[in-house]
Amino acid sequence: MPFSTYMEWVLQDPEHGYYGSGQAAFGRRGDFVTAASMGPTLATLLLPQVLQCLDALATTTDALSLVEWGPGDGGLSHDLGILLAQARPQWRQRLQLVLVEASPALRQRQTGRLQQQPLSWRHAHPTELAATPIIGVLLVNELLDTLPVERFTRGEDGWRWQWVHCPHGHLDWCPGPPLPAESLALLETMGIHLTGDAFPVGWSSELALSQRSWCGSAAAALQRGWLWCLDYGHSAQRYYNPQRLDGTLMAYTQQKAVGNPFLQPGQMDLTAHICTDLLRHWAEEAGWEWCGEVSQGQGLLALGLAQHLSRLGQAGGPPLAQRLTQREVLLRLVDPAGLGGFRWLLFHRSCSTPAPGELLALGEPQLSISLSY
Ligand SMILES: C[S@@+](CC[C@H](N)C(=O)[O-])C[C@H]1O[C@@H](n2cnc3c(N)ncnc32)[C@H](O)[C@@H]1O
Repeated sequence: MPFSTYMEWVLQDPEHGYYGSGQAAFGRRGDFVTAASMGPTLATLLLPQVLQCLDALATTTDALSLVEWGPGDGGLSHDLGILLAQARPQWRQRLQLVLVEASPALRQRQTGRLQQQPLSWRHAHPTELAATPIIGVLLVNELLDTLPVERFTRGEDGWRWQWVHCPHGHLDWCPGPPLPAESLALLETMGIHLTGDAFPVGWSSELALSQRSWCGSAAAALQRGWLWCLDYGHSAQRYYNPQRLDGTLMAYTQQKAVGNPFLQPGQMDLTAHICTDLLRHWAEEAGWEWCGEVSQGQGLLALGLAQHLSRLGQAGGPPLAQRLTQREVLLRLVDPAGLGGFRWLLFHRSCSTPAPGELLALGEPQLSISLSY
């Protein structure tokens, strides 16, 4: 079977899939840490940017929504809901949180998490959003790296898909059909030329074909507003570098990265970095307009992370142990070798203000809500 089918099954099968069955464990005591699973810090830092977008949309009387697609345990939506209700109490009747989640078990977990939410909120299916598209902001943190990818490899006889088979009860790679001309052409459009000898036999990587329909669904969900994608990513030149011999596919369990995607199927997370040029290509094809891209570290510093850090050094405030924990979280979020190296990609639909260049380049935080744990 194609690798994308295997990845879809082991992640999303409602009985056996890592996310689908609800066994996914986020955070320090789980299988992997996401920025959202480290407490309210990410929400606090993103707030000025989210407000800037929502303020620009609030000039009419339309209802506004903050949509999180792939919300995991619901922590980011929960924290942003509380902060938005504090920052704009006049929007309580007007602003709604919308969660789009494929896993029935995680939908249940999110329902528990959002029970005390001051804003109204709901789960929505993509088809429902396509029928009544929202006006607002669509946030996507570490979703795109879990969408199923195809794998391809250079064989002795040319470029082929890498498929999965199960001889004698053991899952393993096997050669799939030759790479079709349109996939080679797609890579060509990003400046990746697979002809010639630059890529050695055995060189393998991923192609995120499923992102194409996701970008279409996301575009159909939003009448007007912004799409903000936060994820591990590389440009096409780095992603498809001849020296990156085995792509970016990785499994995670108990805070450890595992190279073999066939170990413990359904009990580990599987991820592949996003190719930022490919995501932009699919998004623009679906009607999104490109605003810009920064690393998470740069973005958070522009949103005032340094000021939060310096406030922690001042006398008074929370006890020392709490301040040290907050400091560690802030530093992890900007560590260029970790979460700080994440890419933020911003797109819009039918929005002219604020000018795209102003987004992702905020000088000072516009609001200061103290971080609380
Ligand atoms: C790696 S987790 C990220 C969770 C959260 N955003 C965070 O940063 O902690 C990926 C999330 O996306 C969900 N997901 C995966 N594919 C999805 C899809 N096609 N539609 C909606 N949710 C999806 C998973 O079930 C899970 O909640």
